[in-house]
Amino acid sequence: MAYEPAGYDDIDSHLSKLDALGLLYTVDRAIDKDTELHPLVRWQYRGGIPEADRKAFLFTNIVDGAGRSYPGARVAVGALAGTRRIYALGMNKPEADIGKTWLDAMAHPIAPRKVDQAPCQEVVTIGDALAIAGNGVDALPVPISTPGYDTAPYFTAALWVSCDPDTGIQNMGLYRGNLKAPDRVAVMMERSTLAGGAVHWLKYKALGKPMPVAAVLGAPPLVTFTGPQKLPLDCDEIGVAGGLAGRPINVVKCRTVDLWVPAEAHVVVEGLIDTDKLEPEGPFGESHGYMALEEYNFSMKVTAITRRRSYTITSILSQVTPSESSVIKKVAYEPLYLAHLRDTLNIKGVTRVSMHEPLTNLRRFLFLSIARGIPKTEVWRALQGAASFTPAIGKFCVAIDEDIDPEDTDHVLWAMAYRCNPRMDTHIIPNRGKGHGPVLEGSEFDATMLIDATAKGDYPPVALPKREYMERARVLWEELKLPRLNPQSPWSGYSLGDWSEEWDACAARAAKGDWLANGRRSAAHMSETAQPQDPARGIRFDEK
Ligand SMILES: Cc1cc2nc3c(=O)[nH]c(=O)nc-3n(C[C@H](O)[C@H](O)[C@H](O)COP(=O)(O)O)c2cc1C
Repeated sequence: MAYEPAGYDDIDSHLSKLDALGLLYTVDRAIDKDTELHPLVRWQYRGGIPEADRKAFLFTNIVDGAGRSYPGARVAVGALAGTRRIYALGMNKPEADIGKTWLDAMAHPIAPRKVDQAPCQEVVTIGDALAIAGNGVDALPVPISTPGYDTAPYFTAALWVSCDPDTGIQNMGLYRGNLKAPDRVAVMMERSTLAGGAVHWLKYKALGKPMPVAAVLGAPPLVTFTGPQKLPLDCDEIGVAGGLAGRPINVVKCRTVDLWVPAEAHVVVEGLIDTDKLEPEGPFGESHGYMALEEYNFSMKVTAITRRRSYTITSILSQVTPSESSVIKKVAYEPLYLAHLRDTLNIKGVTRVSMHEPLTNLRRFLFLSIARGIPKTEVWRALQGAASFTPAIGKFCVAIDEDIDPEDTDHVLWAMAYRCNPRMDTHIIPNRGKGHGPVLEGSEFDATMLIDATAKGDYPPVALPKREYMERARVLWEELKLPRLNPQSPWSGYSLGDWSEEWDACAARAAKGDWLANGRRSAAHMSETAQPQDPARGIRFDEK
C-alpha cells in the first residue's frame, strides 16, 4: 500500500508541540554528545527543579571529543517522558486519561497498515559500506549516558524488533544497545524477566540460525511508549500502539531482514544477532541507579541502516531516579497493576497503585491504597497479587489507607509507624528473583516483604486544627502578608472513626471560650477507682 501521512505525531511534530507549549529547550550551540549532553540534562533531575518545571531538550549542533560533527541530525532527551505531562502530550491525551488509554489500547489493539514506501527509508546504507568508519552506527550522534563510567555510546531509546520463528508474531522491546563498531552493536535482553527478544533468541539458537532484528530510533512517541510496557508474550506491541493512536500504525518492511518497522521512525538499524557467541557488553549506568558491570550479551552484525535525510533520534535519561526512564515506566505500569488487582483478581477495595520513584526506581516499593472497611483478608490478597504479578516488581509491598498519600514517603512511614504492628502485619515470602539491580556475589534469591499498614480499627482524629479553623487562619495569614504558603497534606485534622459527639461538643464549647464548662463537666465525674491513663469514655455533660 502507498504511504499516507500517519494521523499521529512523529517525533518532530511532537517536539513542535512541546515547543509551542514552552516545554522544550532547543540548544543550538555545539554540545559534545559524549561528555556534555547527558550531564547537562541530568542537572534538571538533580538540581532541585520541581517536576512541573522540567522540560524536554533538543540538541541541534552535536559534536564529539574526536572532532566529529553530525550535520542534519538532532538528539532529543526528555522528549518522551521528561515529565508525566510530556508523556501525556506524546499520547495526545490528558494526563488523567493515561491509565485508561493504556487499558483500552491493550483490550482493543489495532493491526498495523503495511506500506511500500516510508520516510524511514529515504537514505539506505547496505552491505560492506557499513563497516567503513563514519558510515555505520558511528555516523549517528548517539550519546554517552554516564561519562566517566560508560565505555561507549548507547542506544537508550531504541525499540528492538524481532519475530517469533514459530508464530511469526513480532515483539518490540526497549533494550539498551552498546555501540561496538560501525557495523556491530551489543544488546542486553534480560534473561531473568524473559524479555520478548531473549525468548526469541533462544528459539533461533535452537534452530541454529542467527536472529534477525531491527533497532528503531526516533519512532513516533506513542509507538516508543509500548517498548517498555509490560505486555504479555506474543502480544505484538505495534497493535497496542495502534490502540493508543486510535488508528493503524504504518509499518514498512526492512531492507535486509524479514521484519516490519514503524514507517515514521527516523532511523532503523537492521541486523542479525549471533546465536552461537555472546559478546562482553557494558559497563553502563543502569536505571536501578548503579553501574551495570561488564557482562556477556547478544551481538548484532549490522546489515543495513535506513533513515530520513534529516533526522531526530531520542535518547532517554536513565540511571539514578527520578529520570525519564522512571517516568516512562511509572505512568505505564501503575494502571496495569491497578487493573490486575481490581479487575483480574477482583479485589474491589484497591483504589490506587503507586510505585516509589526517587532513588529506589519503581520496582522495589509498591504502595497499594485500600478503601476503608475492606476485609483484612482482601488486603493480604492484594499484597500477594501485587508482589507476584511480574518477576522484578514488588520487593516491598505496603498496603495503606486512602488518607495516606502514596506519593509522599513521609506519609507511608507515618502509616507504618502507627497503623502497623510488625509482628502481626508483616509477612516475608522467600524465593523472589533478584530482579533489576546490581549483580552481587552470593545468594541467587531475594525475598518479598508484605506490610499491612492500614488501620486495623477506628483511630482518633489526626491532631491538627479542624479545617474551618485552618481556613480562617489562612485568610489571616494572607492579610498579614506572611510568606507564600505551599500547603502540605495533612494541613487540617480529620476523623478516623474514634471520636464522639460529646467530645465534639466539648471542643466546640472550648472554641467559643467556655472551657470552664468542660472543667465543671469533668469535676462531676471524678473517680476513686480509676487508674492513671484509664480511658474516660462515655462521660456526659449533664449541666442544665
Ligand atoms: C530506558 C529503558 C531501558 C531499558 N533497557 C532494557 C534492557 O537493556 N534490557 C531489557 O531486557 N529491558 C530493558 N528495559 C525494560 C524493558 O523495556 C521492559 O521490560 C519491556 O517490558 C520489555 O519488553 P518485552 O517484554 O517485549 O521484552 C528498559 C526500559 C527502559 C524504559
